[in-house]
Amino acid sequence: SLKALLTQLQQEFYVSDEKIDQMIKSLHEEMTDGLKKEDGLLPMIPSYVTGRPTGKEKGTYLSLDLGGTNLRVCQVQLNGDTTFELFQQKFTITKEAKEATLFDWIAQCVDIFVENHKITPDAGKTFIPCGFTFSFPVIQTGIARGNLLMWNKGFTVPNTVGRDVVLMTQDAFMRKHLNVKIVAIINDTVGSLMATSYSHPDCQMGIIFGTGTNACYWEKVENIKKWQTQEGAQPEEMVINMEWGAFDNRLVNLPYTPHDNKLNRKSQNHGLQVFEKMISGLYLGEVIRNALLWLIDRRELFNGRSSDILNGAYSLDTAYVSAIVADESSDLSEIKLIFENTMQISDTTLLDRQVIKNVCKLIGGRAKRLSAAAMCAVLLWRPELLEKSISVGIDGSMYQFYPGFEESLIREAKRILGEEKASRLTLTLAKDGSGVGAAIVAMIVCRDT
Ligand code: BG6
Ligand code: GLC
Repeated sequence: SLKALLTQLQQEFYVSDEKIDQMIKSLHEEMTDGLKKEDGLLPMIPSYVTGRPTGKEKGTYLSLDLGGTNLRVCQVQLNGDTTFELFQQKFTITKEAKEATLFDWIAQCVDIFVENHKITPDAGKTFIPCGFTFSFPVIQTGIARGNLLMWNKGFTVPNTVGRDVVLMTQDAFMRKHLNVKIVAIINDTVGSLMATSYSHPDCQMGIIFGTGTNACYWEKVENIKKWQTQEGAQPEEMVINMEWGAFDNRLVNLPYTPHDNKLNRKSQNHGLQVFEKMISGLYLGEVIRNALLWLIDRRELFNGRSSDILNGAYSLDTAYVSAIVADESSDLSEIKLIFENTMQISDTTLLDRQVIKNVCKLIGGRAKRLSAAAMCAVLLWRPELLEKSISVGIDGSMYQFYPGFEESLIREAKRILGEEKASRLTLTLAKDGSGVGAAIVAMIVCRDT
């Protein structure tokens, strides 16, 4: 019966407090392993960012912010008083760019921006310095050097994995005769951390809850065992890009359901980014679609009917899921609109729509709880940080648009960290933060070299 099937889904997607505690422990084990070795359980990538912004940084810098959906080309004016001005142009990343021409496409966008804004090198300089926020895993060998570890979030540009991202971008700039030089490459989480630090000096962690998910935090260099052997003077601390989307790729801890397995098996990166696939925007709608199809196959939803659209992979965008869980109308009219118009299911019943909402809340709720657990795990990793006030800079579509996401982070933080410690925690939206963050790092690099 429908009731039995819903109970089964509830049991599969329920994550107990004990499970969360166990997950936190296991994330700590993977962090330890990743800090120790190059091919550890988590990438735990040294970012080469070792200096904190003071808010006094001043000057105008160019930056690029390649997220999962958009490329932003930005001109950032740091005013030196913790405020900044941002002029940006947003380009939606085309399918062709994602699958083939990415670097030449980026060069073309930069060319348009530099032309439009008449940006030229400073007097006495031959190039325009630029910070690059790149939201994919890069094994960095310097602040402006690093090899692409892999693509994810649906990108598949051929002949690029293992190669230096800055060189590939710079080559594309050269083909376009652009006098722009990338002086720093950072992960988008690092961008959020740095941008938030500009106005919140107590910022210790940057997180993206968006198309993908990931976090970075300040680590003591003495704890980064795999980086110890480097020559030269050691800085005291460095930002670590965790790449936590890869947490539990062995699948020994996360409560994967058959619906998660189905998604994982059919994805371009099977067996990788398994944590990301449970919580981030690219995948949430797809796990839900799998669960709805499961109900349809058992004739307990839409009387057993589906549509070509609903049968198509990734057709239930997470933006729809946000709208579905937010629908408080008595006849669930928003859900009716989405399923009857967009998904082309004719005649849904109120019961159908209640079931849809129920399933979305269940699977979305799991995503929120697991997201909070990961954040708290990192805060507990350096417990001394919670003795004082502490900020976390967060960006991404899940954090911004998924109903109740921030509230859930705060509620879970209170439970996991305790009321007192949680009361010292401030979560800040680092909106468009990455562009600003990259400009700040570019400025720090130009200042210190
Ligand atoms: C943007 C940041 O606002 O958020 C990007 O500037 C980041 O750097 C992005 O990648 C993440 O959000 P989403 O939802 O686009 O993946
Ligand atoms: C993916 C990428 C990571 C990025 C995150 C959020 O997990 O591997 O580098 O930070 O998405 O955009």
